[in-house]
Amino acid sequence: MSEAAIDAYQMYRHLRHSNPVSKEPDGPWQVACYEDVRTVLRDQKAFSSDVAQRAPDDKRAPSMLFSDPPVHSRLRKLVSRAFSPNRIATQREPIAQRCEQLMTEMAKHDQIDLISALAAPLPVTVIAAMLGVEDGNMNKFKYWSDAIFGNIGDILFAQPTPEVEEASAEMNAYFTQKIEELRKHPQDHLLGNLIETETEDGKLSNEELLSFCALLLIAGNETTTGLILGSVRVFHEMPETFDQLKANPDLIPTFIEETLRFYSPFSMTVRRATCDVELGGQLIKAGELVLPLMASANRDETIFTNPDEFIIDRSPNPHLGFGSGIHNCLGAALARLEGEIAVRGFIKHFDSISIETHDPVTLSQFGGPDSLLINLNRANSQEILPC
Ligand code: HEM
Repeated sequence: MSEAAIDAYQMYRHLRHSNPVSKEPDGPWQVACYEDVRTVLRDQKAFSSDVAQRAPDDKRAPSMLFSDPPVHSRLRKLVSRAFSPNRIATQREPIAQRCEQLMTEMAKHDQIDLISALAAPLPVTVIAAMLGVEDGNMNKFKYWSDAIFGNIGDILFAQPTPEVEEASAEMNAYFTQKIEELRKHPQDHLLGNLIETETEDGKLSNEELLSFCALLLIAGNETTTGLILGSVRVFHEMPETFDQLKANPDLIPTFIEETLRFYSPFSMTVRRATCDVELGGQLIKAGELVLPLMASANRDETIFTNPDEFIIDRSPNPHLGFGSGIHNCLGAALARLEGEIAVRGFIKHFDSISIETHDPVTLSQFGGPDSLLINLNRANSQEILPC
């Protein structure tokens, strides 16, 4: 690994050792150690997710990710059945088929852009199929999710750019029309089921449905792209892991967990202190923003033995890559499934994978690079069947 690659993690290590809860003069608090990060994620009373402090006249439905109980509890209850492990297991076959198509196409090349060939289209088509909009324009979905995810800071805390406003308006218009159609002609997919779902708390309103569609596109795309990218980065930096997986595919689940720990795609999140609270010997004042650094917590030497070593069968592996507490990732089972299927495809179709120009700074940036050229060495035999 080059020096630049170590830098982000050196910075985290420096924070953990010298400044575990720290703050630049006008910046947010950064929380670097595992136990403190976990506390911030789990204590929703002291650390609110309603960070945007919406204006009272803001009529948009709150996003589940950026809301607190009781709003969050109601929304989460309404949507969680659709993400239960049983429901997600039914996605295995269609995801494997889609992955196989993409991998077969990739295997025709010695060099290809990983992002456009697999890491972006796989997650986007999976979510589109779940929402029953696979007839839509995938490039548009990708564009909307990139525009919104890449500018989430501005959306929450500043004035979104005209480009972001336009992407949001386009996306809302598209899903409003879909929701209207589904109300007239119900269908059996995630969005169709969400429209019908009713609990003692009532049904989801159109605004809430729109907000949830946007959240899925944003929360489920870039992050899963990041997991596929992280796996390839590990193959490049530690080629022995590829051979180990080929020899023993049973290692795939622990490989995925270790990738989530080692190169956490969702490296940090944000909360706002609701009261004066002491953390790591520092006084965080009510109203201040706090960034729990999950990527740093996942390298905390007090929790993980040899944290800077990639241990393919690490167990236990209590990483915080999917967060913790009431906002823990709703799509974790789906992300794990997609990661597993992608890795299975890699070891079936190829004998080795490397990154053409390995620039750790770009690889580590939030949301990952827009493109990444990889070299593919095709497998002579394909003994492992798609799952
Ligand atoms: C490797 C891929 C993924 C990673 C690393 C990841 C990570 C996370 C993390 C860390 C959170 C918590 C954020 C916080 O506490 O502020 C979260 C929440 C969430 N994720 Fe994921 N995610 C991934 C994939 C997905 C997918 C595929 C979906 C759905 C299609 C999804 C849907 C959600 C939703 C809806 C929430 C909000 C849950 C809530 O507020 O209760 N995620 N994710």
